Amino acid sequence: MSVQLEPELPTEVMEGVERGTEAPAWRHRHLLDTDVLSRTDLDLVMRTTDAMKEVLRRPIATVPALRGWNLTLLFYEASTRTRVSFEVAGKNLSANVVNIATGASSVTKGESLLDTIRTLEALGTRLLVIRHSVSGAPYLAARHFSGHVLNAGDGLHAHPTQALLDLYTLREHFGSNLTGRKVVILGDVLHSRVARSNIWTLTAAGADLWLCGPSTLLRGFETWARAGARGGRFTVTSDLRAALRDADAVMALRIQRERMSAGLLPSLWEYADRFGLTADRLALARPDVLVMHPGPMNEGVEIAPDVAAGPHSVITDQVANGVAVRMAVLQLLAGRVG
Ligand code: CP
Repeated sequence: MSVQLEPELPTEVMEGVERGTEAPAWRHRHLLDTDVLSRTDLDLVMRTTDAMKEVLRRPIATVPALRGWNLTLLFYEASTRTRVSFEVAGKNLSANVVNIATGASSVTKGESLLDTIRTLEALGTRLLVIRHSVSGAPYLAARHFSGHVLNAGDGLHAHPTQALLDLYTLREHFGSNLTGRKVVILGDVLHSRVARSNIWTLTAAGADLWLCGPSTLLRGFETWARAGARGGRFTVTSDLRAALRDADAVMALRIQRERMSAGLLPSLWEYADRFGLTADRLALARPDVLVMHPGPMNEGVEIAPDVAAGPHSVITDQVANGVAVRMAVLQLLAGRVG
């Protein structure tokens, strides 16, 4: 009986692996946001994720692709899904995975981000996954780190692997062509790094993208819509019924309670009353609509519990796909030399 040790990666990735050189189709050293990913890049991530899903279906879901690589998870902000799925992804690819809880590290003694990065590099880290409350922190890290930096969420700015797993989840249900599919991002768009990264991937994929929420939580996005991110279809509105009508997918965003003090919302109750995703409202969408949420959820605020757990929900699929997508991006970055 033969045992397949490596995933069946897309041909262009394998050519690079076999020659011991970079995967010719993958030219990015870091994954900081999705704005630099072309439609070809996105297709390659999606097909590499397919290969990783095949690995995950095996009785022992481990391959030696990253044996000898040190992967460090440096999280300055809380996380469950992203941190755990990067850890599982790294272990499935046989990387040595180190988790840093910044609360128990020298960060508490005042060590700077750059000193922490230099220290991790000296300790052998080659793949650095970083989450930080300050927008742009992973970009600073990438300028000073000789390996590969993966942004696991920075401030309000970007969360690229979340957008990639969202795209993968949509394609699993609708097929690889999302052209004209109406996808609604609903809620606190203003403070959402998930929404910003999704704007790039979904417009690149040809979706008909709608952003919906109270006007105070959409500020600035009208300009983005007028410019037409990547020329895609892009609508910004506070008209919830217009947004939900005939939608193919609705992604509810967490209302960030910590923002309430800024006076952007009168109350959580009022938000839930006017914009919460309830079963009645969802009935405006297509019969096969997908309900998504990046998590963590405030059930009863941005999404009703019966909708979150209902037949249209693919929220747990999103979480599960996070492992395969993160395996794919780790493999693609590690396969690129330089
Ligand atoms: N979606 C997301 O980033 O979740 P975590 O904060 O749990 O990682």
